[in-house]
Amino acid sequence: MTFFKVRELSKKYGFNYAIKDISFELEQGEFFTLIGPSGAGKTTLLRLIDLLEPPTTGEIEYNGWSLNSLTKKQKVTARREMGFVFQNPICFNVTVKANVEYGLTLRGLSQDEIDEKVNRAINMVGLHGFEERKASTLSGGEIQRVALARTLATEPNLLLLDEATANLDPSNVALIENAIQKINRERGVTVIMATHNFFQAKRLGDSVGFMLDGEMIEIGTADQIFNNPSDNRTEAFISGEMIY
Ligand SMILES: Nc1ncnc2c1ncn2[C@@H]1O[C@H](COP(=O)(O)OP(=O)(O)OP(=O)(O)O)[C@@H](O)[C@H]1O
Ligand SMILES: [Mg+2]
Repeated sequence: MTFFKVRELSKKYGFNYAIKDISFELEQGEFFTLIGPSGAGKTTLLRLIDLLEPPTTGEIEYNGWSLNSLTKKQKVTARREMGFVFQNPICFNVTVKANVEYGLTLRGLSQDEIDEKVNRAINMVGLHGFEERKASTLSGGEIQRVALARTLATEPNLLLLDEATANLDPSNVALIENAIQKINRERGVTVIMATHNFFQAKRLGDSVGFMLDGEMIEIGTADQIFNNPSDNRTEAFISGEMIY
């Protein structure tokens, strides 16, 4: 059984396709990076996978479930398997600890279990010592790390990352990349990560997908996409020759 499958997925807003006829499959534990110019449809694809919006046509299968034909209750269960870190994350103006706890308190865990998971997640993103700080006092990069910790604390099996390191300086990028890579390798978490950073896509991705105008132009290994792309649009994009 394929762990994760997207079949002929399309999403239309008005007359325009945000994504068009996208199909791909992922193995459990695969790290898939998504690249493509602004407006290519990366966020839309992630939002559909996280069931935040229904597709116009097509299907998503996760671990044997057809996600678009689930009851409301089943959707809640399926969504708890997934974690989504948004491109522009919003934190509640409470403490860092309270922000990271949030997803766990909804799951009926004991306070001891919650504390352990929260501490682990906060350490993973290098925010130890920030527990009692109010979100309004944090920098953009720190907020991004709180958002990542909030998601990691829920221990998702499918992690969806939308530009998760976009606001960070190089040392924090390395810290976050290491944390994500660690949970991918050690816990077999499957990751789909949209990024504008080619080095990151190459460094982290077992496989890389190139999107353009809502279409998945090409999927291959990181080596194939960056060193030997088969589509000339992929080549134009990675070489910086594409004007958009
Ligand atoms: N709710 C919406 N209503 C109308 N159009 C939308 C909506 N959401 C996305 N779009 C359009 O769909 C297209 C794809 O947008 P999307 O945000 O998925 O791109 P992206 O690849 O994530 O871009 P970026 O790299 O800038 O984040 C864009 O043309 C966008 O304007
Ligand atoms: Mg986006």
